[in-house]
Amino acid sequence: MCGIVGYIGNSKASPILINGLLKLEYRGYDSAGIATIENNNISVLKNKGRVKEIQNMKEINYLESNIGIAHTRWATHGKPSRENAHPHLDNSKTFAVVHNGIIENHEELTTFLKNAGYNFLSETDTEVIPNLIHYYYSKEENNSKDRFVNAVRKAILDLKGSYAIEVLSSLESDRIIVARKDSPLVIGINGDEKYIASDIPAILEYTNNIYILNDGDLVEITNKAMTFYDENFKIIEKTPELITWDAKAADKNGYEDFMLKEIYEQPTSIRETIGTRLRPNEKCDFSEINISKEYLSGISRIYIVACGTAMYAGLASKAIFERLTSIPVEVDISSEFRYREPLIDENTLIIFISQSGETADTIAALKNAKAHGSKTIAVSNVIGSSITREADFTVYTHAGPEIAVASTKAYTSQITVLALLALHFAEILGSNEKELINNLKNEILELPSKASIVLENTELLKAFAKIIYNEKDLFFIGRGTDYAVSLEASLKLKEISYIHSEAYQSGELKHGPIALIEDDVTVVGFITDRRLVDKSVSNLQEVITRGAKTLLITNQDVSQDVFPNIVNIPKVNHLLSPILSVIPLQLLAYYVSKEKGLDVDKPRNLAKSVTVE
Ligand code: F6R
Repeated sequence: MCGIVGYIGNSKASPILINGLLKLEYRGYDSAGIATIENNNISVLKNKGRVKEIQNMKEINYLESNIGIAHTRWATHGKPSRENAHPHLDNSKTFAVVHNGIIENHEELTTFLKNAGYNFLSETDTEVIPNLIHYYYSKEENNSKDRFVNAVRKAILDLKGSYAIEVLSSLESDRIIVARKDSPLVIGINGDEKYIASDIPAILEYTNNIYILNDGDLVEITNKAMTFYDENFKIIEKTPELITWDAKAADKNGYEDFMLKEIYEQPTSIRETIGTRLRPNEKCDFSEINISKEYLSGISRIYIVACGTAMYAGLASKAIFERLTSIPVEVDISSEFRYREPLIDENTLIIFISQSGETADTIAALKNAKAHGSKTIAVSNVIGSSITREADFTVYTHAGPEIAVASTKAYTSQITVLALLALHFAEILGSNEKELINNLKNEILELPSKASIVLENTELLKAFAKIIYNEKDLFFIGRGTDYAVSLEASLKLKEISYIHSEAYQSGELKHGPIALIEDDVTVVGFITDRRLVDKSVSNLQEVITRGAKTLLITNQDVSQDVFPNIVNIPKVNHLLSPILSVIPLQLLAYYVSKEKGLDVDKPRNLAKSVTVE
């Protein structure tokens, strides 16, 4: 989705802005632009297409200023075009604005401004903002020192919807004003240098000291100072957070694609996510949440709510929660949960999972849950992200920045942290399943090294990708947690290889989908549950009999005579197996996408964080 970068300091702004936009390319976009102030005039370079096109414009060489704003746009109102790209100017070309989010009342504001004599050049909802700022600026006292900030404040009071904005003015060329509501924005600081971004990775190479803005915050930034205002326009003090992500983690580090790098980072991201929460022979340590035995014993249900891959991580974790706590768990999609009037109250605990922490539907579902009195836990990978500020408690995955649009290491870290949370709940409740709990803990500690073993075994997957890359339909089947991972495997393949696929519970095949199995259809099966081997093998044999070719991911003893394509993964309890069994399928999706010559990291139509409904 849209990305924002800004800079004010002692260096030339344009290379820093372009560099930041390149770092945000992973979010998905269709046009880009920058604005700087040159000789008291605003210069805008923008176009449809990639950031490289702005970088290659000859005009960029003439931009000397040390202040600027920049944007990558993912079209919502109006097609991708130069006119619709940001920054947008007001009619007098005095104010330039970049904006993430959606202005829901833009039609009403457009009518108001047209009546006041303003014209509109684009089809965007954003163009009302610079014109509104101009409207209020012209009504402020001429020599008021707060004229600019007052005008921005008045303009944002008129906006309904979500926004993160940066504003430049040619009349006050030493400052940038930024504001946010329901769309992320951060400011990094390194001495006199200030870096603004919608996402931390865009500025991580310049500084680790980052101010995370809250909803309603407005900040006036000059070379020498920053003035923070809260939602009531009261001046507030803020302290920066030290972000421990390494800037290199946001680079490809020798890998051909971010996705491949992130797949190979999983032994580390799982280890980091376990961190100090689990030590041999000790109880799980979740000092970040404060949940009592009394509260847990009283809850009637746990919901896990999320979108996409994060929701599938919830599905893969349902079994371990139910097995260890005997509390029923329901997993739901945020966009459904928020509108379906779920039966929740103060006796419901709701876990919201979001890698980015900025997914609009998940944030709305969380607010809805709180309004019903439910306790909420956020599981997120981004420090200070919106869901972490809304939820009662936050549990971080420590996967490091995930840049590729297709989520990989976040998924395995999410299941890891949820498994630990389930164990923690079991310990709080005083479960008498001591042996199971101890075994699972030992198995979790072994996951990083077992993930490394899975990552060594790629030859068959590469060869299989060469066989199937031109296919139109695939099936993924499994039972229990193997079904949960089938859903994620199917999503991964769809996203980055554009091959249609479906995931089915193996036992459901006979109830309809087996009618689609004919010669040479590919069926990928997962078998990691010792109790269900025979039944799952029979299901796969049924498709082989009907002509299907199969790929089997298993840690059980299954005959190579029946299944010629077997990827063996290390043994692990089926309650944890998705953390390992998904890895071969992440790799398969990756290799298929490469065979097809596609852009693995930036699949068409997709964005990394979905900040609109
Ligand atoms: C798929 C993928 C998406 C995200 C979903 C939720 O590879 O990345 O399905 O999982 O958009 O995103 P977050 O976790 O940021 O809320």
